[in-house]
Amino acid sequence: MVALTEMVALEQRGDIALILVDNPPVNALSHGVRLGLLKGFEQVAADDSVKGVVLACRGRTFIAGADITEFGKPAKTPGLEEPQVAMENCPKPVVAAIHGTALGGGLEIAMCAHYRVGAPAARYGQPEVKLGLIPGAGGTQRLPRVTGVAKALEMCAIGDPIGSEEALATGLIDKIIEGDLIDGAVAYAEELVAAAAPLKKIRDRDEKIDEARADRSVFDAFRKRIARKTRNFEAPAKNVDLIEATLDVSFDEGIKQEQAAFQTLMAGRQSEAQRYYFFSEREAAKVPDIPRETPLRDVKSVGILGAGTMGGGIAMNFLNAGIPVKIVERDKDALDRGIDVVRKNYQRSAKSGRFTMEQVEERMSLLEPGTDKSVFGEVDMVIEAVFELMPLKKTIFAELDGIAREGAILATNTSALNVNEIAAVTKRPEDVIGTHFFSPANVMKLLEIVRAEKTAPDVLATTLKVAKAIGKVPAVVGVAPGFVGNRMLAQRGIEAETMIMEGAPPAQVDSVLYGFGMPMGPFAMSDLAGLDVGWDPDNTSSRTIREALCESGRRGQKNGRGYYTYDPETRAPTPDPEVLEIIRGFAEKRGVAHRDDITDEEILDRCLLPMANMGAKSLEEGKAMRSSDIDVVWVNGYGWPVYEGGPMFWAEGQGLDTVAAKITAYGAKLGGEHWELSPLIEKLASEGKSFQELEPQAIR
Ligand SMILES: NC(=O)c1ccc[n+]([C@@H]2O[C@H](COP(=O)([O-])OP(=O)(O)OC[C@H]3O[C@@H](n4cnc5c(N)ncnc54)[C@H](O)[C@@H]3O)[C@@H](O)[C@H]2O)c1
Repeated sequence: MVALTEMVALEQRGDIALILVDNPPVNALSHGVRLGLLKGFEQVAADDSVKGVVLACRGRTFIAGADITEFGKPAKTPGLEEPQVAMENCPKPVVAAIHGTALGGGLEIAMCAHYRVGAPAARYGQPEVKLGLIPGAGGTQRLPRVTGVAKALEMCAIGDPIGSEEALATGLIDKIIEGDLIDGAVAYAEELVAAAAPLKKIRDRDEKIDEARADRSVFDAFRKRIARKTRNFEAPAKNVDLIEATLDVSFDEGIKQEQAAFQTLMAGRQSEAQRYYFFSEREAAKVPDIPRETPLRDVKSVGILGAGTMGGGIAMNFLNAGIPVKIVERDKDALDRGIDVVRKNYQRSAKSGRFTMEQVEERMSLLEPGTDKSVFGEVDMVIEAVFELMPLKKTIFAELDGIAREGAILATNTSALNVNEIAAVTKRPEDVIGTHFFSPANVMKLLEIVRAEKTAPDVLATTLKVAKAIGKVPAVVGVAPGFVGNRMLAQRGIEAETMIMEGAPPAQVDSVLYGFGMPMGPFAMSDLAGLDVGWDPDNTSSRTIREALCESGRRGQKNGRGYYTYDPETRAPTPDPEVLEIIRGFAEKRGVAHRDDITDEEILDRCLLPMANMGAKSLEEGKAMRSSDIDVVWVNGYGWPVYEGGPMFWAEGQGLDTVAAKITAYGAKLGGEHWELSPLIEKLASEGKSFQELEPQAIR
């Protein structure tokens, strides 16, 4: 065994040279790996005793991608192309032996081998699109030549990996190796040498491209298929264009186009935001004042109180993760209704092919419904999801205190109530925490974990682990009205409402936010949720526009009439003159002067600036640990477009000095607490600093 660099070694097994990458934890393509590969392939090419070559990796995976810590730094030679060329031009058959994941640059390296073999559980992918990029080392040009364009389009423009069976079926690998991968790959290389097998270079293969030339409709069909999901994103379309280019330009020209596009995307704002976001999600799970080695509590079973909209959805998360759930309602009817919804949700998933019926039954068998809270004495964690009423929550937590066993975690799903107050009714406030799921709770990724004043460190650490176990993206927040996310949403709501009173039609406000990349605007969202949520018909006097709309029989999508009128067949919304009349009447009563000159730019500013302002205030108050956590909340909980990073990243992109000046100017004109400039923004702007430069802080 010879060390070529500190990360790559060369070993000879008979006629076969073994080039072994060893760069834990994931064998990323760091400089030492690239250099080692280049040296290795140069050496084996020149060594007459070598007849064939195997490239493999030590540790838990094949090369799992680029070293993203090198992103944004000056490029260090060799890049990826030199070792790739050395490998592809090697005069002896090269076999890449893949286990774990061959992702991004890892797969692009593997595609320069003449043959590929994989362990049964290996996975192969070009996930660059998820970071706003394209595969920049030949992926868009080699992959369609080996798998055909249809699969390449999916792998590059959607970014989901495939497994060994599929890789074998599409031709991406030549063989699946059961048993020891390296031994199997060496034996395979020996066979290739013995058979004088051709050195198959993917770059020269044309047969699958020819098939696509005969029928180009696959590209437009694919573009249509991903249009809605990838709206406003630059990278997916670029991936499609480059794969289509394989039909029309030479391999070398295609590589040139790919490299140029890669540089453009890498230097662009979208990829910067997506890379920032990628790291933000990882950071969010770290709590600065809780050591990593904090011993965790065991959560092997869960109790949920309330089987309503949220309780049922929350239960599904645990059932999906194989964790048994005891769910308790106040009476049999409510219980049956709740369980029925869970079952129907699962059946719908089964129909769409996401689960088998057996999997549905398996999950349902983990669910134990009942109407007696005493069963919570047997679980490790109880999550309360009853009505949003403080006196009720207090009664329930006092009861739970008497029932739950010592050390059990007591969580509340409240969306806005004070968790300290709830905790205070128990004799164990250290065991109480907020777990704020988002609706629909079985779908939405975000979990705002509310760290109350007395929440014990191990309770928080355990809840973070639970979040991970059930596939949620956690963000730790402090006790504040609406916590982090809904508190910011409320600021946007105030301005959206004010602007429609001033004369901007709801459809204009919605279309600006939709255009920005939100899944829908605030008025479409209200219609979807139902205008009558929290509306009391016996105590209504047009105090808000929403109340006025309810009074005139408008309930939202559910009765086809809300801020919009909905087509009964297609549910397509159309603006309604009656709504504009109601708004105008309301504004007149309030003495709000009508304007015809509200621009889209003003709408965007007035919706987003107060959000960032409130985000900054949450930081000042110690209700969030880092600005990037706030962005995690908004991307996962509210559909903020990831290519805009999040509201705090967006504000930094505008320049905090510009943000400060605009907030001050709007505040002078419009007034209101939400326009009072956050001292933190003021300070950072005056120092020329950004939110991201702040150290993570403990929740207060
Ligand atoms: N719906 C949302 O979008 C959403 C989002 C996040 C958080 N939340 C919060 O989740 C909680 C539940 O909201 P929801 O939307 O599921 O409400 P819901 O009305 O759909 O469900 C509440 C359920 O609790 C049951 N319940 C009430 N009192 C009970 C008692 N004493 N014992 C047992 N069960 C009892 C009710 O029968 C009902 O089925 C609230 O605190 C709410 O603020 C809701």
